[in-house]
Amino acid sequence: MFNIGIITASDKGFRGEREDASGRLIATMLQELGQIRSYKVVADDAEQISKEMVIMADQLGVDLILTTGGTGLGPRDVTPEATLAVVDRQVPGIAEAMRAKSLEITSRAMLSRAVAGMRNKTLIINLPGSPKGVQECLEVILPALEHGLAIMKGEASECARH
Ligand code: MTE
Repeated sequence: MFNIGIITASDKGFRGEREDASGRLIATMLQELGQIRSYKVVADDAEQISKEMVIMADQLGVDLILTTGGTGLGPRDVTPEATLAVVDRQVPGIAEAMRAKSLEITSRAMLSRAVAGMRNKTLIINLPGSPKGVQECLEVILPALEHGLAIMKGEASECARH
């Protein structure tokens, strides 16, 4: 079981004007992977998003942070930049896989600028903001996440063939 943090980036959610269905969906879909240690709804503000990531990674020591929202082309969509500001190493294959599979469902998948990377031993992954986008992207990455997290934490060194 891994320790997990969820960050929803949404101006409306932060102001209490929108229910955070996407954050709740992430929590539900990750039940078998680990425990939700922290769950925050923040404004679409790069400093706030980065700050929350640093708290979850450095102070709470979570293994995985999933974000939802703020990956698009809008002027307030800054989650990828907030993520890149705090990671040491990128994991491009995760975002590549999400976009590639999602493009089979909707051409709008190309409009997500989501990134993934590691801050020390915390894996941070951006997901789109809609519950539909969250569901579709998580379904793509979930099968590989447990192994990736185990390798990151030094708990697995052998990659059995899959
Ligand atoms: N990816 C999947 N799998 N399914 C979706 O419905 N929506 C797209 C895209 N990625 C979508 C998706 C749309 S419409 C947008 S605008 C971008 O994600 C960015 O969304 P965000 O700004 O809410 O993060």
